[in-house]
Amino acid sequence: MQELRGKVVAITGGASGIGRALADAFGGAGMQVALADIEAGPLDAAVAELAADGIDAAGWVCDVSDDEQVHAFATSTFERFGTAHVVCNNAGVGGAGGLTWEVPLAGWEWTIGVNLMGVVHGIRAFVPRMVEQGDGHIVNTASLAGLKAAPFMAAYNATKHAVVAISESLAHECAMTAPGVGVSVLCPAFIRTRIAESGRNWPDRLGANPSPPSDSPMAGVMRQLVDNGLEPSVYAARVVDAVRTNRFFVLSDDAHASATQRRLDEMVEGTPPKMLTL
Ligand code: NAI
Repeated sequence: MQELRGKVVAITGGASGIGRALADAFGGAGMQVALADIEAGPLDAAVAELAADGIDAAGWVCDVSDDEQVHAFATSTFERFGTAHVVCNNAGVGGAGGLTWEVPLAGWEWTIGVNLMGVVHGIRAFVPRMVEQGDGHIVNTASLAGLKAAPFMAAYNATKHAVVAISESLAHECAMTAPGVGVSVLCPAFIRTRIAESGRNWPDRLGANPSPPSDSPMAGVMRQLVDNGLEPSVYAARVVDAVRTNRFFVLSDDAHASATQRRLDEMVEGTPPKMLTL
């Protein structure tokens, strides 16, 4: 989709990190911006900041793990802006970590509900309208963890591999039925965001929060990797370019491209998986 000016972008998880940077980048390219997030305060602040930059923006509180709430977000977007051309199914959580056999079921449920079903709900709510209008682009946020699986994060890895697979199916289906609708899947490595503090959005309905305490070694390692990551605005500019040029996989740098190449080699050679070095 070469021309973005005057069009509409809808972004889930738009109040922080990558989603917030996407709002700036697409808004800066002349788009109207519809944001959804589970955190009302940061959402209001994001809408106010975008408006102060002269961007026409609106926000709705929405838990993407709930199909009805995502449909309500889509309906509000269509009512307020008339349509949506770019949809970023981006909301996500770091998920429940630890040894795979010890992750509590509630941790799996939370991670799958937000990271996987959130994307499914976004596709179901927005894509029919995009197919009908024959013009659109779907941007699903996976991760490098959707291409390569590191230890202690099986639930997260599973959801991100699933998002890559869903995006690939969707790309084929759009090419067959609505060639004006493109698909991109975001597979970045570490980006400087609040992902290491995802436990802040643990839903009470699932009982005790299994996220490691913020002063634990595991939380510390994750925070350090993220803090040394790429600036969200740099990555968001790549995403805007990917939408303009209809690029499917959007990695964050060449080192990670070589890690994914290594994985393909392992598949062909049948060797055990090597640890990802970053
Ligand atoms: P972040 O924590 O800064 O932003 C995530 C946003 O999603 C927050 O505004 C949060 O309130 C919102 N959110 C969480 N649960 C939600 C729910 N149930 N419904 C609606 N909104 C919800 O983290 P970041 O990094 O910006 O995460 C965005 C996406 O990027 C996620 O899908 C994440 O898995 C992915 N990602 C992040 C990487 C990183 O290093 N930061 C690397 C690869 C992928």
